[in-house]
Amino acid sequence: MKFQSLILILIFLLASTARNQALLDGYYPILPLNGYDVIEIAKFAVTEYDKQTGAKLKFKNIIKGESKFAEGFTGYHLIISADNGSISNNYETFVCTTVYVPTWKLISFRPVQV
Ligand SMILES: *[C@@H]1O[C@H](CO)[C@@H](O)[C@H](O)[C@H]1NC(C)=O
Repeated sequence: MKFQSLILILIFLLASTARNQALLDGYYPILPLNGYDVIEIAKFAVTEYDKQTGAKLKFKNIIKGESKFAEGFTGYHLIISADNGSISNNYETFVCTTVYVPTWKLISFRPVQV
């Protein structure tokens, strides 16, 4: 029984590592970072986060970005800088769209130290 639980835990750990890896698989650096489309997506992430949480962040610029274009899927993984009142902060965000849900979706948004 104990051994079986260990195996289960191990499988779970391996699966979640694989999932985190899969989330970032196939992403390539976005160049340039000041293109119209990537800025629109970064602004969308901030606006959407503000709408969902009642925060009042204001988009400043993109620090780092990578994107993935796969069949039926487009994903953006961005590190952005935004003003939170008088303080400027960095945030990591994931935004994606698929052919099944053809509108942009905010998957995650969280403060990061860069
Ligand atoms: C914005 O700043 C306030 C006050 O310092 C803080 O409580 C809040 O967590 C910050 N929000 C974000 C999204 O960084």
